[in-house]
Amino acid sequence: MKYRTVELDGIVIGCGGAGAKAAIVAHDNGAKIGIVSKCRMGKAHTVMAEGGMAAAIGPQDGPEKHFADTIIGGVALNDWRKVWKLVTGGKECIEYLESQGSIFDRSDEGNVQPRAFGGHSEKRVCHVSDRTGHAIIHTLKNDVLKRDIALFEKTIITSLITRNGKVVGATALHIPTGELVLFKVKFAILATGGNGAIYKYSTNSKDLTGDGVYLAYEAGAELMDMEMIQFHPTCMVEPEEKKGILVTEACRGEGGILINSKGERFMKTAKKPDGSPMYVGKLGQPELEPRDIVARAIEKEWEEGRGPVRLVVCKNAWRNEVKRLSIPAELHALVDESKLLDDDGVRKKLASMVEQFEKFAHTDITNEGMIVRPGHHYMMGGVKTEAETCSTRVHGLYAAGEVGSGVHGANRLGGNSLTDIQVEGKVAGKAAAQYAKTASHDNCEAEATIEFGRIESMLGENGIKSSSIREELREYMWSNVGMKRNEEGLKKTLEKIAELKKKSAGVKVSGARQGNVAWQEAIETVGMLAVAEIVVRSAIERKESRGAHFRTDFPKRKKEWILNIICEKGHGGISISKRPIEPIPDNLRKLIPEEKMRELYGE
Ligand code: FUM
Repeated sequence: MKYRTVELDGIVIGCGGAGAKAAIVAHDNGAKIGIVSKCRMGKAHTVMAEGGMAAAIGPQDGPEKHFADTIIGGVALNDWRKVWKLVTGGKECIEYLESQGSIFDRSDEGNVQPRAFGGHSEKRVCHVSDRTGHAIIHTLKNDVLKRDIALFEKTIITSLITRNGKVVGATALHIPTGELVLFKVKFAILATGGNGAIYKYSTNSKDLTGDGVYLAYEAGAELMDMEMIQFHPTCMVEPEEKKGILVTEACRGEGGILINSKGERFMKTAKKPDGSPMYVGKLGQPELEPRDIVARAIEKEWEEGRGPVRLVVCKNAWRNEVKRLSIPAELHALVDESKLLDDDGVRKKLASMVEQFEKFAHTDITNEGMIVRPGHHYMMGGVKTEAETCSTRVHGLYAAGEVGSGVHGANRLGGNSLTDIQVEGKVAGKAAAQYAKTASHDNCEAEATIEFGRIESMLGENGIKSSSIREELREYMWSNVGMKRNEEGLKKTLEKIAELKKKSAGVKVSGARQGNVAWQEAIETVGMLAVAEIVVRSAIERKESRGAHFRTDFPKRKKEWILNIICEKGHGGISISKRPIEPIPDNLRKLIPEEKMRELYGE
């Protein structure tokens, strides 16, 4: 078997914000490091992040408030240690990125001026218009390029090789040349992002096939809370081929309101049975509830026939909607027009939304509302890691950012992800470099030969195409494992996955080995099926509704379910267990308002 061998201290798998940061920090701590990524540096999904990065930098703000908001938003499923690291690390992330060239939007006085976001009790989401990820990833890319960090772009890792419970290597395929590569390493840092590709409609780039989760699972790591999938409240609906594209939360953060087809600002008019408002939101805006709540509110309007739901960000657009829908005065009065942006404000603060709607939907958002509906956005669960090191239970295996788990609990607050990737990237990079100082290389050629045999065996004529398997999977996941789930739909999906797994044994990739994207897709599809099965089994296991996980057959949240669901590879397949969550220490519990403690923990 012909393959190339590359020996390094470690590799980072993925070149988004978490991967780039981890590589920079590992390098600066003495590790000989390479980044292996399916896309080119600077093009990873971080580039798509829009609204901003949460950091408690305002004069009234502080990590304590950010901590409480994140635990409340995560509905008590969070790893408090990780949350504390996140909220105390935010300010430094902003300062570092600014020092390297990402200049965040400022007030007239020249200070970084954060915006409001759902679930945050202060304006704390620092941004570069609505192209924040673009600014950050290019800054990090420059930082990577300044260093002696080897880049292996357009390369997919197909397996991790372990010996005696520690990582010793990784096998890979370089897509443009079809060359097989063995990385002999002491550590691997997973920074592969989420799993959007297993859903029909997602804000994620198509590359996000859950690779890191699959690699970790196969290598013997634990996975946690994989049922927790976030559906972003606002995604594009039209045209069909653009369905699922993100409509940033910054729209609501900048004062945008949601109306149904009758012109009702439904998050303001909805009432609880006792007549009190159903949604309070934050900073006086009901649309700024956490994402799980806003997403369900929007979906309800659509499902009950009051769609399309429109997101209105501009004074002009609101006036036009009032005329178009003949909105009566009593509903009109529910909107404080002065809180909406004017045309210039929209063009400045929501520049990419203006462009996206103009190009894709021929809509001028300064003149009309944007039609929106929820779509898959984020994976709160993932590889289980330690807060202090981002290490897994497999020695030398680390995970940072979305591929990890714990920090966001059952629902992530917007803006916390860009912070997380920087904080965890740094933690993982430092810990891995430290580990490499005492770890040693080991043989892994025999395992590599077997794995390369598996990859090569996918090449051939007249087989099943993996694209057909993906399509079916995505359709089932969207219909049955979406915002609302129940046992029947979940079990049906499990059966479908079993059928697709059998089918995938017959996949063959025809054509040359060079530049054969279908080969990459066939490799990914094996992992996607495994990841989907883990999501579904975890969703069946959690018999309650909490955060993003809403079970129509168990619609109530239950105190006894304040625990993590753990999946690992067992002898006969996926083994599932429940694990208690470490209680938040008293000094931090005190930060959460009493009535919220009662709501969350029944105290
Ligand atoms: O809506 C957004 O701009 C997304 C931000 C996030 O997921 O943090």
